[in-house]
Amino acid sequence: MKTQWKLPDTTQAKKRLGEVEVLYDQYELTPQQKELGMNKTYFIKTYGCQANERDSETLAGILQTMSYTPSETIDEADVILLNTCSIRENANNKVFGEIGNLKHVKTQNPDVIIGVCGCMTQEEDLVKRILQKHHQVDLIFGTHNIHRLPDLLHQAHFSKERTVEVFSKEGDIIENLPTKRFNTIKAWVNIMYGCDKFCTYCIVPFTRGKERSRLIEDIIEEVNELKSNGYKEVTLLGQNVNAYGKDLRLDDGFASLLEEVAKTGIERIRFTTSHPWNFTSKMIQTISDYDNIMPYIHLPLQSGSNDVLRRMGRRYTIEEYMDVFNKIKATIPRCSISTDIIVGFPNETDEQFQQTLDVFNECKYDNAYTFIFSPRSGTPAAVLEDHIDMETKRRRLQELNELVKKYSLENNLKYVDEIVEVLVEGPSKKDETVFTGYTPQQKLVNFTAHDAKEGCLVKVHITSAKTWYLIGQLVD
Ligand code: 5AD
Ligand code: SF4
Repeated sequence: MKTQWKLPDTTQAKKRLGEVEVLYDQYELTPQQKELGMNKTYFIKTYGCQANERDSETLAGILQTMSYTPSETIDEADVILLNTCSIRENANNKVFGEIGNLKHVKTQNPDVIIGVCGCMTQEEDLVKRILQKHHQVDLIFGTHNIHRLPDLLHQAHFSKERTVEVFSKEGDIIENLPTKRFNTIKAWVNIMYGCDKFCTYCIVPFTRGKERSRLIEDIIEEVNELKSNGYKEVTLLGQNVNAYGKDLRLDDGFASLLEEVAKTGIERIRFTTSHPWNFTSKMIQTISDYDNIMPYIHLPLQSGSNDVLRRMGRRYTIEEYMDVFNKIKATIPRCSISTDIIVGFPNETDEQFQQTLDVFNECKYDNAYTFIFSPRSGTPAAVLEDHIDMETKRRRLQELNELVKKYSLENNLKYVDEIVEVLVEGPSKKDETVFTGYTPQQKLVNFTAHDAKEGCLVKVHITSAKTWYLIGQLVD
């Protein structure tokens, strides 16, 4: 390995040390960097969760301040960035597939800069694999040094060597990074970075570092600015939003933050993801108290078995989970709830899987994201011996997915003949008399109308329901 390369180190990434500062003038470009992208284009391909989507908006913002413009296609771009996810093996496989595809792009245009960033590049093994096997990749950086992109791109442009810089430890919070938002009505707003939960299966605490909260005033300023720029909806982002403000020593920080965001008067507020472990009554009450906090909560269950939950390091029992679930349902009128479930955690028995189905039947979730356990190198669960074969895991996933569909449809049918409020996202691609948008409960609606303006809140009469969406007509 080249000495100037800075490679990730998993042992360092595990540590939770050091103070975090908030910096307001860290990001600055040299005149040369401001012109580096003149007459050049970029293409960013994003994998994974909303945190990555939001990071890509920062990457785009940085590239645009360097004079790069967006390219319509990946093949024609001068700079290609793959912002990667490593939550499960198949996320990694997709990225390696794309890296492979880009080989021909590099052959056709040797001047193109191909960069890989995001969660995968925080992992030692994966970076080594890219360096050894994928010589078309020119630039590798991580989730903690996005702000270094101008320097790194400069280096990648002018040096004959490949540029590799990954920080294993999170740095400070940098508030003055530019952003190019990809949507004009709905915006992602980071409220915190990182995760300290260390669930035994999860790579995120390694790839995203320790929990760091942005200051309330900085978040509010961003929301106010979005509102004055015509944004109708914000989604507050964090790997575990209920931990917001713990590092700032705030008491029930997320409830206070939600209240402050609600008071800005922005039309719709959403947040993701919340952990069932410290979902406080005050948070539930605040969501119920404000009309502009949407009645939709993503509450990951992961498993219906107390033994599996303990081995996953989830910090709650099923009884405690149900307590939060029932409180939400009792306090927030018509709140929809979705969840995440992992099947086939090492040595999950048939009875334990049955317990997950039982909880699902009790909660009747509006939606669920279901996964087969995927061992992530460096996490405690990855080294557990596992006696459950893949066929059993696949069968369990299929069985669970039948329930997901059943309750999704059942919940959707409850809206038939009702009038719901929809935030219009635009006409559908296939038919311009059909428009799409979401209800407060995050139900997708396809509705007919002569005209419906993007970004407006409209009333729609629901005429029928499908498993994944509602169908309706605009109410004049
Ligand atoms: N294997 C399978 N699913 C996982 N998730 C996180 N890590 C893993 C893993 N190693 C799922 C969890 C989490 C969602 C974002 O991804 O359900 O809530
Ligand atoms: Fe994937 Fe997790 Fe990284 Fe999001 S934070 S991109 S889900 S690994």
